[in-house]
Amino acid sequence: MPTRMKGIILAGGAGTRLYPLTLVASKQLQPIYDKPMIYYPLTTLIENGVREICLISTPQDLPRYQRLFGGGDRWGLRFDYREQARPEGIAQAFQIADTFIGQDSATLILGDNVFYGSEKLKQTFDAFQTGASVFGYHVNDPRRYGVVEFDETGAAISIEEKPVRPRSNYAVPGLYLFDGQVVGIARNLKPSARGELEITDLITEYLNRGQLRVAKLERGFAWLDAGTSTSLHEASAYIQTIEKRQGIKIGCPEEAAYRRGFIDLAGLAKLATAMPRCEYRDYLEMVIAEGQAKTPPAAR
Ligand code: TTP
Repeated sequence: MPTRMKGIILAGGAGTRLYPLTLVASKQLQPIYDKPMIYYPLTTLIENGVREICLISTPQDLPRYQRLFGGGDRWGLRFDYREQARPEGIAQAFQIADTFIGQDSATLILGDNVFYGSEKLKQTFDAFQTGASVFGYHVNDPRRYGVVEFDETGAAISIEEKPVRPRSNYAVPGLYLFDGQVVGIARNLKPSARGELEITDLITEYLNRGQLRVAKLERGFAWLDAGTSTSLHEASAYIQTIEKRQGIKIGCPEEAAYRRGFIDLAGLAKLATAMPRCEYRDYLEMVIAEGQAKTPPAAR
């Protein structure tokens, strides 16, 4: 990975499919089982070494995220906040965050996407140098997504947004890695027929330049998007099942920041102590106790 990979969490949109839940609070603040939805994509960024994060949301919701995360320093992160006045497309994020990104590489993750259990993600982040990297995930009904088509050698040859007749079953999840060309490319995009700056157009430009890689995500890997009441409930049930069975938490940014070395045990203990008594705090205290058992007293 380049020394500076900036992160963007896109957490705007209208959330119409979740009405009436989203009448008063943004979709990405709704719970998936035991924590706000946005904790999951945030954790994915942290796990992959991203510390500088720009959060983009609507003018009404942005202050709520600021209250949730602040400057980010207690988690060893740096947060920047930008407004998206209207939901004019995912690729617009790169115009909105242009000065945040500068010349650096940037990864964008959608605030309602949950990723769990992939080595491929980590490998892709670690290996990323230039061009663009996106993922392909086998789904039953690809028509709701951007769909990637492969040739017989496995190279990507087209990406289409919500095709009526999909050319493959591989959907592109909401996690994308781009090099320093991304702001320039995003600036030249034109709105599509539905009036949005399309992420598929941005990816296609990298494809046309011969600089796109698509990593197929392995079987058994979970990619959940929580955009409808049904998928929100299913995501909660899935997370609860795994957390209960394994005694771990998925999407716990404090733990991820500690394991990634962004904060030390003392920093993690400070976060836990500041919380009221709750299961979440109990869990962090368990992680701390495990860490202390492994660390010689002098090094704590
Ligand atoms: P969608 O699920 O396509 O849109 P939405 O969240 O507005 O929901 P609905 O269709 O129910 O009205 O968006 C995918 C994600 O991208 C979601 O997390 C919201 C985010 N998004 C933005 O933040 N800004 C945008 O301009 C778009 C298009 C999406």
